[in-house]
Amino acid sequence: PPGLSVEGRTYRPDEWMNTPPSILSAVSRRLHLQPNHPISITRQLIESRFPDYKYHNDLFPIVTTHQNFDSLDFPPDHPGRSRTDTYYINQSTVLRTHTSAHQADTFRANQSSGYLISADVYRRDAIDRSHYPVFHQMEGAKTWDRSNFSPYPSLTEAIWADVAAIPAHGVAVEDPNPTIHPERNPLQTEFHSAGEVEAIATHLKRSLEDVVVAIFSAARAAAATSGAVVSPDSITEEPLKVRWVEAYFPFTSPSWELEVFWQGDWLEVLGCGVVKQSILNNAGVPNRLGWAFGLGLERIAMLLFNIPDIRLFWSRDERFLGQFAAPASFEKGKDPGLARFVPYSKYPACPKDVAFWLPASSTPPARNSSPTAPSAAGGLLPASSSTAVHENDIMELVREAAGDSVEDVRLIDSFTHPKTGRKSLCYRINYRSLERTLTNEEANTLHERVRELLVGRLGVQLR
Ligand code: PHE
Repeated sequence: PPGLSVEGRTYRPDEWMNTPPSILSAVSRRLHLQPNHPISITRQLIESRFPDYKYHNDLFPIVTTHQNFDSLDFPPDHPGRSRTDTYYINQSTVLRTHTSAHQADTFRANQSSGYLISADVYRRDAIDRSHYPVFHQMEGAKTWDRSNFSPYPSLTEAIWADVAAIPAHGVAVEDPNPTIHPERNPLQTEFHSAGEVEAIATHLKRSLEDVVVAIFSAARAAAATSGAVVSPDSITEEPLKVRWVEAYFPFTSPSWELEVFWQGDWLEVLGCGVVKQSILNNAGVPNRLGWAFGLGLERIAMLLFNIPDIRLFWSRDERFLGQFAAPASFEKGKDPGLARFVPYSKYPACPKDVAFWLPASSTPPARNSSPTAPSAAGGLLPASSSTAVHENDIMELVREAAGDSVEDVRLIDSFTHPKTGRKSLCYRINYRSLERTLTNEEANTLHERVRELLVGRLGVQLR
């Protein structure tokens, strides 16, 4: 196969290649670096809470499977490695699925104690108002050098002193679980003492609570000054509620997630934990220990600016882009004076259903999964060994046919024929442009293209 060139770098695609041109074309957008883009403003606001950290904002998105998975202790059969979830260029080259892909290299290259990495990341996933196959994450890490301190407990005392330097916030935080749980959330007993991990965990949680509180006070101030009608389910109407829950990641232990109460539900905004010592050891800094986190910038930006649909971030429409301006400074304790998003008129939706029989050999589609959370999704699927249809294949095909004119895709019916055992699915595709009214004729044309691709690519039989 011919070489594939992306911004001057050349790759050799093989039978693992599953990255469509539409995804590759997002590489050049770098929304997190467009000065007045809401993703970039969100990044700058968070960076301002970590003034002494080193920022890495231009790391290239195509990485090795070693960087994305192996260096982080992902087991060989982890579902995140599956071609249904991850964009491959070839067997050992992927579009990074998370900023953690750069953890090991950054620990190796930097002797400084804290860093932030902001970048575009890529995942095959469902289509709805909060999922898009390209999004942005910020990774943060902070480590302490053991060799700077005399034996335990001095290191622990130093970390507690750093904790004391983080200003207190007045927000009530639920944190019902113990820092360490022997089975569910274990200490790395070979390397860390319980006292060290208690101090690291407190430093981590306080630092991230500080970020969330800063985001929400900026969001509230924006709502108060915008004069816009604040929707009744808006985050700004209720007191901020935050909680910590136990989590699992292959590359941290113990691990947690931070959730924020939003529109009647707990919304996960970030994952974090105590860095696996093996990663630091392999990166040539065995004397360092500390924490790492990863957060989704779109989710935070949607809360911050009250942006209702993730597709808007990709808009080149001045009615969207013209609404945002980065503040001159992000001073602690000062309102950055952000403007809240004012929706321009919403165009009518045009829902259309498509029903089809799956090919006889096909298994039912698995629900989507994240690279870090084990799920029901299949494991490694070499290109030709299976004809199974995964839901993410259907989603991507819809994107290919209709691009950003689709608001969401939902499975509304599934049924297995009692005699033949064949499975039938019905999906409702909601066509709606963010920029103009789609005529029924246009929606029909898009829908016809979806139907053709379903037959041509996935071998389904339309009903
Ligand atoms: N990379 C994880 C994700 O994408 C988040 C994370 C980063 C968790 C760093 C722990 C430490 O979900």
